[in-house]
Amino acid sequence: MKILGIETSCDETAAAVVESGEVILSSVVASQVAVHHHYGGVVPELASRKHVENICGVVDQAIGDACMRPQDIDAVAVTRGPGLVGALLVGFSFAKAFARGMEIPWAGVDHLAGHLHSVMLCDEKPSGSFAALLVSGGHTAVYHVHSPAQARLMGRTRDDAAGEAFDKVAKMLGLGYPGGVLISRAAEQGDPETIDFPRAWLDKNAFDFSFSGLKTAVKRYIETHPDYEAHISDIAAAFEAAVVDVLSHKLLHAAEVTGCGDVAVVGGVAANRRLRERVADEAEKRGLRLFVPDLSLCGDNAAMIAALGYHYLSDPDGLRGRPDDDVYSRTL
Ligand code: KG4
Ligand code: ZN
Repeated sequence: MKILGIETSCDETAAAVVESGEVILSSVVASQVAVHHHYGGVVPELASRKHVENICGVVDQAIGDACMRPQDIDAVAVTRGPGLVGALLVGFSFAKAFARGMEIPWAGVDHLAGHLHSVMLCDEKPSGSFAALLVSGGHTAVYHVHSPAQARLMGRTRDDAAGEAFDKVAKMLGLGYPGGVLISRAAEQGDPETIDFPRAWLDKNAFDFSFSGLKTAVKRYIETHPDYEAHISDIAAAFEAAVVDVLSHKLLHAAEVTGCGDVAVVGGVAANRRLRERVADEAEKRGLRLFVPDLSLCGDNAAMIAALGYHYLSDPDGLRGRPDDDVYSRTL
């Protein structure tokens, strides 16, 4: 079964064709960084308009890159939420119309479940249930994942998402947007030991996160150090180390509590080198297997949506989209 995946929940217009839920035949991601760059963050209305402009071309390219024609697609999977409503509606309406025009089934897929499922596109996959850290611009949470459609939320951020904290701190430091990659690049040159930023463990045995105190600590540091521009890389490194300490601790603790031998890190922030290295070290020490998707599958993409959609669409009794289905902005 060849599934066309469509993803427009935030600022990437993405389409992909995935066969049998695991073979990526094509994956196209049109980034809107250039549009939102001037504003230092995603402007929802501009994102929607850009999706309208891009969606036909991105889908055509995904189908063409897979050496297929529209009539070769067997079903469509599309992100239904959470995300920006105006942005979601573009991909969702397109998917409905495409499926109706081609007279094929379609299914709406949860964006976060899609990120969790992205590890199933790795060459080696978890064999049973696994503990997962989902870290993106909009979400930071720990899950115990049992199956594609069943993940138990163990804890999540009470304020900012980790990626959001990266983006906001990058803005404070004048590094630009999107901040994650710029902070980690600056941090490569810095010494994380020079500044001791706070780690918000909350309850060290629980799985909720908080990053607003850390963000405020960086702000205060900047305000009280007029010469801060001379050591931006140290600030970036110390900030990154504080985030990575908490993220890795909570994930490994989740593995311990659930008894899982497999752990995964997914979402845009999973691209962070220091986080990948740290979790890999800690997992090795504990004899755990770590799964982190390829960089192209960490950020928003439609391959993960198509791969997850396969589990619904390949089951004759599985979930199907209905004509009056709508998108949702927040986690269900
Ligand atoms: O998953 P994603 O593409 O979109 C959402 O669903 O939010 O994640 C985007 C987030 C942004 O906040 C971006 O700054 C962050 O991922 N990010 C990183 C890195 N690359 C992207 N954060 C830290 N280090 C990176 N290398
Ligand atoms: Zn995402």
